Amino acid sequence: MRYHKLNSSIFIENRKKFTAHLKSNALAIFTSNDMYPTSADAHLPFKQHSDILYLSGADQEESILVLFPDAHKEHLREVLFLKETNDLIAVWEGAKYSKEEAFEISGIKTVFWLSEFERVFNEMAVNAERIYINGNEHLRAHVETEMRQDRMNKWLTEHYPGHEYERSQPILHRIRGTKSEHELEVMRIAAEVTTKGYKRVLKFLKPGVWEYELEAEFMHEFLTNRSRGFAYTPIIAAGNNANVLHYIENNDQCKDGDLVLFDVGAEYGNYTCDVTRCFPISGKFTARQKEVYNAVLRVHEGAIALLRPGTMLEVFHKEVGALMTKELLGLGLISAEDVANEDPAWPAYKKYFMHGTSHYLGIDVHDYGLWTIPVEEGMVFTVEPGIYIPEEGLGIRIEDDIVITKDGHENLTRVIPKTVEEIEAFMAG
Ligand code: GLY
Ligand code: MN
Ligand code: MN
Repeated sequence: MRYHKLNSSIFIENRKKFTAHLKSNALAIFTSNDMYPTSADAHLPFKQHSDILYLSGADQEESILVLFPDAHKEHLREVLFLKETNDLIAVWEGAKYSKEEAFEISGIKTVFWLSEFERVFNEMAVNAERIYINGNEHLRAHVETEMRQDRMNKWLTEHYPGHEYERSQPILHRIRGTKSEHELEVMRIAAEVTTKGYKRVLKFLKPGVWEYELEAEFMHEFLTNRSRGFAYTPIIAAGNNANVLHYIENNDQCKDGDLVLFDVGAEYGNYTCDVTRCFPISGKFTARQKEVYNAVLRVHEGAIALLRPGTMLEVFHKEVGALMTKELLGLGLISAEDVANEDPAWPAYKKYFMHGTSHYLGIDVHDYGLWTIPVEEGMVFTVEPGIYIPEEGLGIRIEDDIVITKDGHENLTRVIPKTVEEIEAFMAG
């Protein structure tokens, strides 16, 4: 792996949290993602499934994790099955995990090669009453392909039709939303690498550069810091491009007098960072840009202050809507009449701020986490309000990553220049 080995305590703790929610005499099974074919003999680079990563750290294709905490035989309580290497694989693909290495990464003592899977799994299954299968129950998931885990689920129900079946996803959505201190350490590294990228790009930004040149500067900084690259497809949107929320072409030129919006974060050790900043291409904001920018910044800071233990996310989103309404009234973009006549399902502020304020952040960028429980210590959220005014060629969003602490928060990405004064001073320096 390019990243330094993570502390295996992350995965030991995560498994402990997960197995505490299992019903009695149950096993749970998790697979790697597939290697996704493109065409001819090509595949996309391997990207591990976030659940097997969360529970084991196994960052290798074809791995299988089985957890069976009530197994009579102690060595069958946690088992990893791995692709066995051979001379041919060693020459063409390089090293795969040895059993010792898999233990160092995951803290799992029992590691078998995949060739042993059916025999060992059968011994586990016949002694279990229920099997937890995995799926994808993210609220916004849209998946058309059959995944490796889906094929595993089919295989299980064909071979073990008499077991009771349960879902792992509700447990994972409950526990993955709250990060351990060991996970936060990795997220802090992802934030540091992201910060280095922003500082490099701020020095490189000037009229005439192309959005893709700015993207390349980020990538350079990320890769030289042991990140595998972007945590999500980066948005680098000069001028009016910022009003296309998912603009990822990054193929336009930066013009004097415009702002450029960056929604860019690094991954590190499979954990993500997600940051948005808007910088003036000339190094100086115009009066109008400053006015709108500071309105977004006030909502952003106000929203961060609202996120603390006990907050309900639904109430939080409404309160941020009220902050935004006040700012849009102040900017004259909406009127008191618009607000008086607004549809509660799509309030007036949505005309200029049409997306949500916050999402959970972790191994996945839009990470798992429940939306129906109060915010608690250890949760990590983005805070990312924006104002988008296509008629002025102006789109502004400001996004930081916020860890909830016992009495407030820790902002993982605050050191990236954010106020008008900080940005202008950094660009001039
Ligand atoms: N970069 C994706 C998001 O902000 O949600
Ligand atoms: Mn985000
Ligand atoms: Mn973002």
